[in-house]
Amino acid sequence: MEITKYPEHLAIIMDGNGRWAKKQGLLRALGHEKGAQSVRQVLEYCVEHHIPYLTLYAFSTENWNRPALEVKALMELLVKFLRKEADELDKNNVRLNMIGNLERFPEKVKNTLVGVIDRLKHNTGTTLTLALSYGAREELLTTIKRIAQQVEQQQLKVDAINEDIIQQHLYTYDLPNVDLLIRTSGEYRISNFLLWQIAYAELYFTDVLWPDFTKKHLEEALISYQNRERRFGKISEQLK
Ligand code: FPP
Repeated sequence: MEITKYPEHLAIIMDGNGRWAKKQGLLRALGHEKGAQSVRQVLEYCVEHHIPYLTLYAFSTENWNRPALEVKALMELLVKFLRKEADELDKNNVRLNMIGNLERFPEKVKNTLVGVIDRLKHNTGTTLTLALSYGAREELLTTIKRIAQQVEQQQLKVDAINEDIIQQHLYTYDLPNVDLLIRTSGEYRISNFLLWQIAYAELYFTDVLWPDFTKKHLEEALISYQNRERRFGKISEQLK
């Protein structure tokens, strides 16, 4: 089937790297390495098909609780990926963005990220957003504090707070709402990802483990998305 309707904002919970590695009798870190190849494929697809926003859940606030060795491996993989891919990202007109709380990240990771974000900031193609040390509740808490501060400083009236004001203070203030959210590996959870932004997103779950996820699987998700009717609370006839 031909795909004619693409989401503007695609978000992915990339799950199953550990299980993939275990199945092959490999260390978990190797599952993440293979997972990075799926990231490359999905990003390539978004570039080729002009999907403007791709947001990936790469590291949650809860992931800090994993064994230190695995956290270290993930950090190194991220640095390696960014350094290795920077030229390619630039060539493909990709802009890099990050959401989350970078404070806990090692200097090397922070510097690499900030450097690549800066290098790609004038690009106008797909925006790749990496959610790193990200949790939606933490984001909402930060948002509420930012708004409360404005009220406290009498720059904003309580009555003037509306959904647009909230949107403007989220980490994703410059991204549109999510249209399609994919989660791999047969888990049916949101796991504290983009809670505000997925209010009207279509959800797609697949049993495929993230390291096995290819362009073909992405196309299956996009076909499912295209065949759905998004009513945003209205009835079918009102959409015609
Ligand atoms: C979930 O699998 C995946 C993660 C916690 C990390 C995602 C990271 C990558 C795909 C690495 C590369 C990312 C970039 C942006 C280069 P899991 O370990 O929870 O799997 P499990 O549930 O099977 O244990």
